[in-house]
Amino acid sequence: MLKGKRIVLGVSGGIAAYKMANVASMLVKLNADVHVVMTEAATHFITPETFEVLTNNRCYTDTFDRGMEMHVPHVTLGTTADAFLIAPATADIIGKLANGIADDMLTTTVLPARCPVMIAPSMNVNMLENPIVQDNIKKLASYGYEIIDSDEGYLACRATGKGKLPKEEVLVEYILKACAKDKDLQGKNILITAGPTQEAIDPVRYITNHSTGKMGYALAKMAMLRGANVTLVTGETSITPPSFVEVVKIKSARDMYEAVTSRSDSQDIIIKSAAVADYRPINVADNKIKKTEGDMSIPLERTDDILSYLGEHKKEGQFICGFSMETENMLENSRKKLEKKKVDMIAANNLKVEGAGFGTDTNIMTLITKDECIELPILTKEEVADRILDKVISSM
Ligand SMILES: Cc1cc2nc3c(=O)[nH]c(=O)nc-3n(C[C@H](O)[C@H](O)[C@H](O)COP(=O)(O)O)c2cc1C
Repeated sequence: MLKGKRIVLGVSGGIAAYKMANVASMLVKLNADVHVVMTEAATHFITPETFEVLTNNRCYTDTFDRGMEMHVPHVTLGTTADAFLIAPATADIIGKLANGIADDMLTTTVLPARCPVMIAPSMNVNMLENPIVQDNIKKLASYGYEIIDSDEGYLACRATGKGKLPKEEVLVEYILKACAKDKDLQGKNILITAGPTQEAIDPVRYITNHSTGKMGYALAKMAMLRGANVTLVTGETSITPPSFVEVVKIKSARDMYEAVTSRSDSQDIIIKSAAVADYRPINVADNKIKKTEGDMSIPLERTDDILSYLGEHKKEGQFICGFSMETENMLENSRKKLEKKKVDMIAANNLKVEGAGFGTDTNIMTLITKDECIELPILTKEEVADRILDKVISSM
């Protein structure tokens, strides 16, 4: 996901510096070109050689090192980076950066950087709470540096509180958000529904379906990486929602209807990928359903039609995409759905084809608009999500 991207990691002299070996390794596995710049203090906690082996690039520690491989390395690295992460960021490096000091290799490399620069403060809780440090952090944020909030917990100094470097996975997610994709959805509000709904029969049992939420979550992740402000309205799933999206958890079709319709006016794009149950048991509220020996029938009523509501109330310039899961006559049924629901696109899949549908990591989709019918090959759900978003953008 980071192929062709140059990531600079700035490591300063905090105890959490050792965690950056993992971060470097994770980024290399994502095919990034990783360069590490360390302060002299950082070399007391982890060696430059560790980073050189992991990244296969020279690790810079000294501005005046004459054995360097790049032309004026601090300027070259700073200006060619796609993303720059300083982690752990000591109180000292934060103070220097907030005041434009450039007296070592790391600080001199940050100043010429034009890419997103992220700073992850990590230190003892009392150091972090010191108003001087807090002012410096605020000053850096006001200059456009992204501050990665530190975690709370048991610290290396044996105090408990805020100041922990966030987990390696979290740091990598920040880097992905910063540079994995072009920001062609920057500033767009996009609402995505995902997962199944649950329709209570009684306080114990419910009706649901096989949706795992994978497709909707992949859409939310890709839209977020492309710069959108994402709201993910999700039924119960066992997977973790992507970072940096607003998650609205719902259970029933009614909950989802309310969550979507109350937010639909402020959205530029709405993609309904959730598998909403079409029917719900009647009289649930009154709890009137009685289990009668031998009688398995449950009186049902239709749930609210979210897509029809969205089609009826479509705003000028808004794009609405629905999903259709078919077991037969996929194209014909999907075209009918496109017209009947008055939406802009139907992403259809045939549940009978291997590699498509619920629970799989792949999907085979057909994108149907008024004028086009695009058959996608078998792709991962993230690739499908990107293709759906490409089509949405080109149609708007
Ligand atoms: C064992 C030890 C652990 C330290 N951990 C931290 C830390 O987590 N955060 C911090 O801001 N400073 C920490 N320091 C202090 C810094 O290493 C010190 O301020 C140093 O001058 C920072 O230099 P640098 O910002 O150039 O890397 C630690 C010092 C020692 C001896």
